[in-house]
Amino acid sequence: MRKVVIHGPGGREKLLVEEHPDPSPGPGEVLIDVEAAGVNFADVAVRLGLYKSAKTYVGWPITPGFEVAGRVRAVGDRAGDIEPGTPVLAATRFGGYASVIAASHALVLRRPESMSAEDGAGLPVVGLTAYYALFELCRPRPGQRVLIHAAAGGVGGALLQLARIAGCEPIAVVGNANKVAHARRLGAAAVIDRSREDLWRAAERHAPTGYDMILDATGPETLRHSYRHLAPAGRLVVYGFASMLSRGGGGRRNPFRLLSGYLRLPRFSPLRMTAENRSVLAFNLSFLFDRTDLFQEAMEQLLTWYAEGKLVLPSPATYSLRRVADAHRDIESGETTGKLVLRTDQ
Ligand SMILES: NC(=O)c1ccc[n+]([C@@H]2O[C@H](COP(=O)([O-])OP(=O)(O)OC[C@H]3O[C@@H](n4cnc5c(N)ncnc54)[C@H](OP(=O)(O)O)[C@@H]3O)[C@@H](O)[C@H]2O)c1
Repeated sequence: MRKVVIHGPGGREKLLVEEHPDPSPGPGEVLIDVEAAGVNFADVAVRLGLYKSAKTYVGWPITPGFEVAGRVRAVGDRAGDIEPGTPVLAATRFGGYASVIAASHALVLRRPESMSAEDGAGLPVVGLTAYYALFELCRPRPGQRVLIHAAAGGVGGALLQLARIAGCEPIAVVGNANKVAHARRLGAAAVIDRSREDLWRAAERHAPTGYDMILDATGPETLRHSYRHLAPAGRLVVYGFASMLSRGGGGRRNPFRLLSGYLRLPRFSPLRMTAENRSVLAFNLSFLFDRTDLFQEAMEQLLTWYAEGKLVLPSPATYSLRRVADAHRDIESGETTGKLVLRTDQ
């Protein structure tokens, strides 16, 4: 089998495609012939050595990748009754950038025949993240106003669609004009292009009394203002810190940017939060992989919405495994819309 291996933190040249013996499925595992693997912004942080759960669970060397789609090759003991050949998708805590993977059966689901491997590989992370943020943490109600940062990205696009499914009014924030149409297609009631207008003045125009929910994975650049723009009883969901990394900065760590980002992070006062009736919620799903109950409930709901045509999977940008560095370059640039996936069989 072939997989991408990173032997130590660094730039994109650290992404090596290597040949290794095929794994065999252990107890509770399903062996999957991977056709496509999702690429996520978090994979860049893994490569740079900045991702806490990668250090906690794997260390170096590491094969990144949180999601795959393909077909079952074999099934280990106590791994359910899924037949070899069945099309599947799976969430994986690392290891996804590979042509074969042994995945925990609790995180493997049948993939509808109508869903391509590329689309399937792009669903678990963005779908689970958006579902957890909105439905587990926020309890959205129809008519509520939701501000979504980086709304044309992978997770952002899923948030737009799920906010619409919940009957909310999603306002999208995007970083350049090329992303506006994508955000509109996925359900944005309005799009703020922050390269052309002042983000927060526009945000106030769309919701003069504040937002019921703000979904923020941009981090130091936006968090303080995101909190200030909550309506009473509003919830700020923090789930990433993209602006701590350099946009297209040669793919390397920028210690100055990391430090200045860290210093710019707001400190929230429980006293003020209580008096203002504003909440700050935060999560990282890569520390929640043992919550297979959450995974299964969310994935079943997402697949139901997909079958009903309520959730669409915009065609992802695809790369062969050996072009993995290009995929990282593109997602690091901050210029992509939607998902990126690797075709592992090319
Ligand atoms: N906590 C969790 O469990 C969890 C799970 C999945 C993802 N995430 C987080 O969610 C965010 C979105 O992930 P994704 O994989 O779907 O990526 P993505 O949104 O497709 O790409 C990242 C986007 O962030 C924005 N951005 C802001 N500052 C940036 C910078 N310095 N460099 C590059 N991009 C920057 C860009 O959009 P604009 O220019 O349009 O703003 C860019 O397109 C990431 O921060 C990721 O770490 C968290």
